Amino acid sequence: MKSFGSKPWILPQPVLIIGTYDKEGKPNAMNAAWGGQWDMHEIIISLSSHQTTDNLAQNPEFTVAFATAETLVAADYVGITSGRNTPDKMEKTGWTIEKAPNVNAPVFKNFPVTLECRVKQKIDESETGYYLVAEIVNILCDEQFLAPDGNPDVARMGIITYDPVHHTYIRLGETVGKAFSDGKQLK
Ligand SMILES: Cc1cc2nc3c(=O)[nH]c(=O)nc-3n(C[C@H](O)[C@H](O)[C@H](O)COP(=O)(O)O)c2cc1C
Repeated sequence: MKSFGSKPWILPQPVLIIGTYDKEGKPNAMNAAWGGQWDMHEIIISLSSHQTTDNLAQNPEFTVAFATAETLVAADYVGITSGRNTPDKMEKTGWTIEKAPNVNAPVFKNFPVTLECRVKQKIDESETGYYLVAEIVNILCDEQFLAPDGNPDVARMGIITYDPVHHTYIRLGETVGKAFSDGKQLK
């Protein structure tokens, strides 16, 4: 086995698109890979200082969409451009933007699934950022991505993950097993 020391290499990492409004109600988006589910109804995201954190200081509600192969270029764009110095950042994405039904934050309708979230806690807050803990208020799914059982059909969404080793995006592949079930073969 080759050793690599300590690196931010949890695999796979999500590609989260965080949507916020500024104090004038102007939408913004950023890309975040360092995040995940924190407990049953909460997520956590490691945030540096951005237009997004400026916005969250004014209005503690936001959305989180999962980037897809179809939205990849603009999803990467919002991760390399700041709303702080790019006034037309959101126009460049070409995304269709609406206010979320349950929080004061934008929904980017080009994404199959969006979480509506509210800030619960900022851990280790400093000038350089914080760990954001947020409550999931609601989950929205584009109806064209529902499975026959009425739940989101994740396998059909073309969701991408971020590869922190080679800094690439990888599209999720096919379903290969059943969780809490296939392991029973070895019981
Ligand atoms: C693949 C990728 C992952 C990123 N992950 C994070 C992250 O987890 N936390 C963070 O603070 N910034 C992350 N960034 C950087 C922000 O998305 C970037 O600084 C963005 O320009 C902030 O936009 P804003 O200033 O308009 O809010 C990531 C960028 C990319 C491309």
